[in-house]
Amino acid sequence: MTAHYLEIPIFLPLHFPSDTAKVMKLSLYTNKLLAAPVDLLAVGVFSDEPDRGIAFSQLNRALSGGLDKACRDEKFEGKLGQIVVYNVQEERSAKRILVFGYGSRADYGLQRARRFAATVAGVARKTGAASCALTLTITEVPADPERVYAVMQGLAEGIIHGSYQFTKYKSTKEGAPRLKEAKIAFSADDVRGMNGAMLRDALAKGRIIAESANTTRDLVNEPANHLYPAKLGEFSKSLAKKFDLDIKQLNPRDLEKSGMNLLLGVGGGSSKEPKLIHLVYKPEKKLPRNAPIIALVGKGITYDSGGLSLKPADSMINMKTDMGGAAVVLGAMQAIAGLQPECVVHGIIPAAENMPDGSSIRPGDVIRSKAGLTVEVMNTDAEGRLILADAIAYALEQKPTDIIDFATLTGACLVALGPSTAAAYANSESMAEDIQSAWKKTGEKFWPMPLDADLREQLKSEIADIKNLGEKWGGSITAALFLQAFVGESFPRWAHFDIAGPVMHASEQIFQPKGATGFGVSTCVEYVLQRVRANS
Ligand code: BES
Ligand code: MN
Ligand code: ZN
Repeated sequence: MTAHYLEIPIFLPLHFPSDTAKVMKLSLYTNKLLAAPVDLLAVGVFSDEPDRGIAFSQLNRALSGGLDKACRDEKFEGKLGQIVVYNVQEERSAKRILVFGYGSRADYGLQRARRFAATVAGVARKTGAASCALTLTITEVPADPERVYAVMQGLAEGIIHGSYQFTKYKSTKEGAPRLKEAKIAFSADDVRGMNGAMLRDALAKGRIIAESANTTRDLVNEPANHLYPAKLGEFSKSLAKKFDLDIKQLNPRDLEKSGMNLLLGVGGGSSKEPKLIHLVYKPEKKLPRNAPIIALVGKGITYDSGGLSLKPADSMINMKTDMGGAAVVLGAMQAIAGLQPECVVHGIIPAAENMPDGSSIRPGDVIRSKAGLTVEVMNTDAEGRLILADAIAYALEQKPTDIIDFATLTGACLVALGPSTAAAYANSESMAEDIQSAWKKTGEKFWPMPLDADLREQLKSEIADIKNLGEKWGGSITAALFLQAFVGESFPRWAHFDIAGPVMHASEQIFQPKGATGFGVSTCVEYVLQRVRANS
């Protein structure tokens, strides 16, 4: 291989003002690597590449073999996620070098690039770096433009996602400077056959997706005393204004007219009124006649105390995150507005606070849903499925081709799949295939679950059409079956994602701080993009 780094500076500055990452300047450049005037220079290495690749070799030569020695000292093998941080003594050079293990070369693509960049952001935070450079690692000469595009997108996504911090309520912001600038370093060989516009497009896509996921994280991290249904409505309104979306909000009187008694019931025990938020994305240009109409529905319980079926204290701790599904929908709407796919997307959020009070719904109550089915409430803590049932009925009125809901629906989902995997349900083969194809691309952890019709028995009520509680076993499935009863038999493309686990992360990782993850946004957006592509 003959690639070497050129000194021709091509500088394509992209200024991305962002709420979450403040201002992150992303740029592309090609230069002598070590001379990058940054605090942190990062290079990725494959486990199955004995010479550790061109970029590493070039740096190692410039450092008289010091980098290789440091790696050997730390038994660095290039396994996925392994890192070595090397302090550079040279004048006029990057101050530190981060060597990152990519794992096997065959797995290199969007997901690995994203992990690399997010790790760089994490190390930048730990070492107080304000600027960094990420080297684009090529895997073949000539480079495959499709792979370069995916990797570029992953780098932008990772650096912005990895830089996320939630410091709103800290009186003293941490002393370390924030990462303000990321350069992406490449050689001429890396990008042969690609033009600047393609590269910029890839970076912009990564930026849009990561910033949108960071919006989701901001919402999920927000405490429930600051974020209740009305506030979620205000936030949605400002989002709609900023990204040119239509918005409609249904307040209690409208909900009554519309028959959404389940949503009204669940919100009834709180001093904060429930509402339904409805955003619409519709591109300006004329759509093809068969363009998909996708309804995204997100559970928006701004706090889940359990209601009269009160949760024990320990189980209440993270219940401000119970609007995680709504936050995914809002993040996805932001990304979709940024990416402008040729379809219509509805974002539908039933929002309520689940509290115990004299006007709360009671275990034993029977409520008529918007869809007409009567529901016996056995447990007021199974409230997510109640508000979603009315929201699904509302979604069906929009005449969608697809409905996807996101919800922190059950603790049983955590029991089944652990804290970082979402349960995925689909009511047709083709829907199951399509959602799977989306999460395979993004790498978010979903797992397919069965809508086992045998368990429907559990939801039979003595006195109403259906009850909101199943038996002990299969809790994530019976919750999904409850929702399916409101989707109906004839609607062919519905998916339900239970994100109770991955909505947040209880422990810190170098590429991800504790707290909200933004999980679901990228897969949701990828689904929409693939759906549009398949249709054109
Ligand atoms: N919001 C919870 C589910 C949840 C639990 C999310 C833990 C995240 C972490 C949901 O409303 C709930 O309370 N579900 C009950 C259902 C039960 C009463 C059938 C549960 O999982 O215990
Ligand atoms: Mn609950
Ligand atoms: Zn809940």
